[in-house]
Amino acid sequence: MYILPTRQPEFPAETDDAQGVIEWALRHVDELAISFSGAEDVVLIDMACRLARAGKGRVDHDRLSVFSLDTGRLHPETYEYIEQVRSHYDIDLEILSPDHTELQALVREKGLFSFYQDGHSECCRIRKVAPLRRKLATLDGWITGQRRDQSIGTRDRIAVAETDAAFNGRNGSLAKFNPLALWSSERVWAYIREHDVPYNPLHARGFTSIGCQPCTRAVLPNQHEREGRWWWESVEKKECGLHAANRGAA
Ligand code: ADX
Ligand code: SF4
Repeated sequence: MYILPTRQPEFPAETDDAQGVIEWALRHVDELAISFSGAEDVVLIDMACRLARAGKGRVDHDRLSVFSLDTGRLHPETYEYIEQVRSHYDIDLEILSPDHTELQALVREKGLFSFYQDGHSECCRIRKVAPLRRKLATLDGWITGQRRDQSIGTRDRIAVAETDAAFNGRNGSLAKFNPLALWSSERVWAYIREHDVPYNPLHARGFTSIGCQPCTRAVLPNQHEREGRWWWESVEKKECGLHAANRGAA
């Protein structure tokens, strides 16, 4: 059972030292992975690779553990970008697929676009949440790119480090790290430019937040980034279940 020791003096509950949080996690958590969506959360991979190059991080792994949930519905640009990130950083990037029996049953019964009629939760549960649950059950902790500024109501209080309230790890409780929690979108993009980090080309076409192709659209200037996600649903439903504990904050 892993209980996150948030009160350790070297690990303040609130910090914007994202690389420091990743370093702490690498040092203290045995089975740890970064959850990479194929968007600007690439900065987590960049930071972890910098740590690895500096000889910090896990001593028993020479390759970084990163996974992406392949819903089968990502944009072609996102698939190409995920492969670009894999080769750019030379990392072992695991692609996780949904269970085909569950998926076929859904599609047979409701077709390929049921989410426009009865909401995204059923499709997200099969294509994203169930594969994530299976993966997390092999880990002690995971790192996500969630930020407080991404969603008013559901993410504005997320912690930098917490014990995951929604999923279990291989021995029971699971540590969850959100190193970018206190970062603004502007700061993430300044990092990407400063460090010449490869980015998903959809960002240059008005997609500030990127999810599945049928459920994501570009936003206009000054629209909030999540207005382009599940745009036919109300604001408090704009969580797909990957971060189910956030709903409690709404
Ligand atoms: S979502 O819950 O609305 O889909 P969002 O796109 O904001 O999440 O991404 C927040 C974080 O969730 C990402 O930085 C990443 O850590 C994780 N995440 C989201 N989608 C995926 C995915 N397809 N594969 C892996 N991780 C993901
Ligand atoms: Fe299905 Fe849309 Fe959820 Fe992707 S975001 S899993 S296509 S409902």
